[in-house]
Amino acid sequence: MAIGVFDSGVGGLTVHRHLVERFPQADFVYLADQANAPYGGRGGEEIVDLTRAGVIRLFDEGCDLVVLACNTAAAVALRRLQQTWLPGWRRETGRKANVLGIIVPTIEAATGLPWEHEAERRGEKVEKLDILGVFSTPATAASRVYEIEIDKRRQDVAVFSEPCPDLARMIEQGAGAAELAKVVEDHVARLKARIGRHPDRAILGCTHYEIIADLFRAALPPGTPLIHQPQATADALARYFERHPEFDVGSDGGRRFLTTGTPGVQNAQVTTFWGAPLTFEAA
Ligand code: DGL
Repeated sequence: MAIGVFDSGVGGLTVHRHLVERFPQADFVYLADQANAPYGGRGGEEIVDLTRAGVIRLFDEGCDLVVLACNTAAAVALRRLQQTWLPGWRRETGRKANVLGIIVPTIEAATGLPWEHEAERRGEKVEKLDILGVFSTPATAASRVYEIEIDKRRQDVAVFSEPCPDLARMIEQGAGAAELAKVVEDHVARLKARIGRHPDRAILGCTHYEIIADLFRAALPPGTPLIHQPQATADALARYFERHPEFDVGSDGGRRFLTTGTPGVQNAQVTTFWGAPLTFEAA
């Protein structure tokens, strides 16, 4: 058996890399739905359908656990799939497979609180407001998942999302650093204009953006902490395996990279991030 990692494209590699470091013996299958990327400008039902198809593909590859390493899929589709589709699929197949996301671990890291925690004393005077900026796809921003879930847990954190409509596509298609830097600077400036100042901390709420985290660091005031989603996801998965030792995630250290798009070597931006050319097989 194996751990499946799913994204619309190459962004989920940022999460995959941390999972592999944390669980080196486990077998991993990465699936990029590049035929349909980017997801961030699509409608909700489409994102649900595409995500379900990706998860089924990974279950068919023998994955018992699939991590949606995509904020857009996790924000829009995860709950729907867990509530309305997965239970029936488990009954039909007799398998106990599961799908996990990356937003819950990120919110836990951003709030410093376990997911189960909800703020009890509302309306208390807040001495100092911690402003958290979230850069994401339009679909993730429209879901308001970060705003809603963080507000339930922390009265002293205010979330401002900045949708970046074209950025994942540009990264996916291997745009150059100078071109990407301009777009990142523009979004950082827009967010600043909306808040009235720079955020105190930021979440790169689209896994593609982690590939160009250095450009965000350069555009934000020096030292602005970035909540590290891949790290938070690896930590959460380690805790999940402690609670669910029954999951067999393989022991051969297998690594497969599949794409619904054009197989072959991924773009230069990905090679730089990965440290070597990375070749995907046809899914
Ligand atoms: N990497 C994805 C995310 O975290 C998807 C980007 C896209 O396909 O638009 O949202």
